[in-house]
Amino acid sequence: MLTRTALQRAAAAPRITLTGKQAARAASAWSQVPQGPPDAILGITEAFKKDSNPKKINLGVGAYRDDAGKPYVLPSVQQAEQTVVQKNLDKEYAGITGVPDFTKAAALLAYGPDSAPLKENRICITQSISGTGALRIGGAFLQRFYPGAKAIYIPTPSWANHKAVFTDSGLEVKQYRYYNKDTIGLDFDGMVEDIKKMPKGSIVLLHACAHNPTGVDPTEAQWKAISDAVKEGKHYPFFDMAYQGFASGDANKDAFALRYFLKEGHLPCLAQSFAKNMGLYGERVGAFSIVTASEEEKARVDSQLKILVRPLYSNPPVHGARIASTILNDASLNRQWLGEVKGMADRIIQMRALLKENLEKLGSKHQWNHITDQIGMFAYTGLSAEQMTKLAEEHSVYATKDGRISVAGITTENVGRLAEAIYKVTG
Ligand SMILES: Cc1ncc(COP(=O)(O)O)c(C=O)c1O
Repeated sequence: MLTRTALQRAAAAPRITLTGKQAARAASAWSQVPQGPPDAILGITEAFKKDSNPKKINLGVGAYRDDAGKPYVLPSVQQAEQTVVQKNLDKEYAGITGVPDFTKAAALLAYGPDSAPLKENRICITQSISGTGALRIGGAFLQRFYPGAKAIYIPTPSWANHKAVFTDSGLEVKQYRYYNKDTIGLDFDGMVEDIKKMPKGSIVLLHACAHNPTGVDPTEAQWKAISDAVKEGKHYPFFDMAYQGFASGDANKDAFALRYFLKEGHLPCLAQSFAKNMGLYGERVGAFSIVTASEEEKARVDSQLKILVRPLYSNPPVHGARIASTILNDASLNRQWLGEVKGMADRIIQMRALLKENLEKLGSKHQWNHITDQIGMFAYTGLSAEQMTKLAEEHSVYATKDGRISVAGITTENVGRLAEAIYKVTG
């Protein structure tokens, strides 16, 4: 009788063959990668797209829309782009810190022509991948060189990406009080108290204007007190200015806090974005700057910024920066652009007023003053997460669950329907 060897048995056994796909899966290095949660804003856009209601309203996205609800390319941007194209420029790399004509003009726009550090050549600046990139460079620079604790305090709440940007930069992210949900306004006392309680020399992130997501900004008098508290604690102010001009319609007024801090002797750093005020969202145009104590210090900081940027992305894209530079450096185009920024800001201010007026006309028992008191692209309505769900499910109005609505998504045509929906869910 023949006995089968183990080898023969193995050969005779039915073979389990892996398909190409299964084999690749088994060999993948990423089998342990956990599924991450979807981006909150993208989730809203998805739900909005799926809704078949022709009168649906999307108030989730933080991008300006005209009164027809359409994306808006500023005429000054169109004109500047034509000028850039007609110049037939080459596509060579920019330097590590970007297009010099752009960064120079960006610094002037933010700090103003009377700025002492600018006149004294004490501000180092690098172009960045819009505002997010500016914050990221700032985070990395502070992580590498800030002499105090590597922690940054951001307001509660803050732009949803701040925490991730600074955590990924290697900073510890802490918070200070900012928004008072009972008054739907600024928790000024809480903010100042928290700044005073921070360990000496803490890094404090401040939204220069049009606070995202609340639309609640300190008054000029309150900024003065905030500056005093920051000074008293020897803290380091980090300004995020993503909406210069877009808040009030006046680029100088919106730069008040930053310029005041400078006058008071602070040496802040600044993240600038041209996404909103020039509508250059996808072109990713921004700048990161640091105010230093002397020209000699500036040179050292500048050298380290270059060393930091080089391994990140070598050098920034040129097209959007050339557009922005053309606008900022041409007196007549600059004037035209400032008028267009004011036009966008005014439309937003008008939509706030119309929304409030419509809610009052419907006989809403609630106070809606905060809608017009707040500033910038977003309004914090004070609606609860349940009410926001109702708005989406029963009225096809989509926005984030924290009650934030993008006022840029409101039009003269949809404001009545929006007010009715808010009226119905708030009782
Ligand atoms: C407060 C704040 N900072 C920074 C940014 C960065 O925007 P971007 O990277 O598009 O310039 C935004 C955008 O919404 C913002 O609201």
